[in-house]
Amino acid sequence: MKVLVIGSGGREHAIVTSVAKSKRVDKIYAAPGNAGIAELAECVDIGVMEFDKLVAFAKEKSVDLTIVAPDDPLVAGAVDAFEAAGLRAFGPRANAAIIEGSKAFSKELMKKYDIPTAAYETFDDADKAIAYLETAKFPIVLKADGLALGKGVLICKDLEEAKAGVKEIMLDKHFGDAGNKMVIEEFMTGREVSVLAFSDGTTIKPMTSAQDHKRAGDGDTGLNTGGMGTFSPSPFYTDEIAAFCQKEVYDKAINAMKAEGRPFVGVLFTGLMITEEGTKVLEFNARFGDPEAQVVLPRMKNDIIDVMEACIDGKLADIDLQFEDNAAVCVVLASDGYPVKYDKGFEITGLETFKEHEGYYCFHAGTKLSDGKVLTNGGRVLGVTAKGEDLKTARANAYKATEWVSFDNKYMRHDIGRAIDEA
Ligand code: AMP
Ligand code: GLY
Repeated sequence: MKVLVIGSGGREHAIVTSVAKSKRVDKIYAAPGNAGIAELAECVDIGVMEFDKLVAFAKEKSVDLTIVAPDDPLVAGAVDAFEAAGLRAFGPRANAAIIEGSKAFSKELMKKYDIPTAAYETFDDADKAIAYLETAKFPIVLKADGLALGKGVLICKDLEEAKAGVKEIMLDKHFGDAGNKMVIEEFMTGREVSVLAFSDGTTIKPMTSAQDHKRAGDGDTGLNTGGMGTFSPSPFYTDEIAAFCQKEVYDKAINAMKAEGRPFVGVLFTGLMITEEGTKVLEFNARFGDPEAQVVLPRMKNDIIDVMEACIDGKLADIDLQFEDNAAVCVVLASDGYPVKYDKGFEITGLETFKEHEGYYCFHAGTKLSDGKVLTNGGRVLGVTAKGEDLKTARANAYKATEWVSFDNKYMRHDIGRAIDEA
């Protein structure tokens, strides 16, 4: 069959790598893809939000299945556009992707269906938000309602910072229309875990767990980024916590979406915090995580197409989802200066070394091909993933492999997976 993958980052390269392993697939297209994806798929220069062009392309090429990976097109209705044209697409429709697209919606859903999460209030008026903050406990968390590239969350230590945050989100519109509404939420402390789960709208089956490192600098310092590295599984996500989450979070969320007339078909990403008072939801996303996919998918034993088709056809209950009994670590190689200001266009060398090593992957995030050379083309450039029999081995392997590639201004964190030592 023919498969089209929409997106251009490290997550999409990981998805394309899994699709390429499927015995059922004989042709892969990617829109727009990147230099790494181009080794496995035919890349077409269509943007992820150009639904008309994407649908026309899929029709012209008789694509059997389109996988919509990023949040923006999902929230804007990419899957609806494919379905309206009679084409099969994997991912939630817009009315379900709202679970990521609006924090106010997802918090309301959790409250209504008794899913554990931080206490919160929603505001669409800056003065009312500030009046609320004047009597609140600090630190406190401000969240822009809409999509903000993972950057719309401000943790404020006192009233002064919180007032500046309200101004930034609601008045100065730092995150655009995402800041028309805002959620103010109780600050929680604990270990964070990301759990991606396949759902067919009725059944939800979690994949192996992972942990992201969102801050730019070692020791979790510096600005928030799209993610500087991940490891899987999380040693803190015990069987007991997994059982609790299945019943109190995943099943409840999928049943709630169905009851609201918004069946969720696709990958539900739950950001969890394991607190002293129990495990609570930080956020829901409507897609694979980036760079979570880069450590979760290489460990999946199933044929990804079988699982995705089962989701679309409402037959996920028949799938025995299985993961390897090992571990994986992904270290992101970024351009120095990310996430603020960085140069691009530098040649990347050493990529071929990965082909000689089983269990090692170099997922491209921001790269492009130019005259047969691979050049840096973004803040996050590559995601170097390695497997190992346990987390410590996987981490040592991943850091060893980061030395195989070179480019000017190469920057990485040196402490990805440091929580492993505390487990
Ligand atoms: P979110 O996009 O909602 O996952 O938020 C991004 C990051 O902000 C999370 O990964 C947490 O590190 C942090 N965060 C979000 N909500 C809270 C909260 N209620 N308490 C503490 N930290 C939070
Ligand atoms: N790694 C976090 C995310 O994909 O949202």
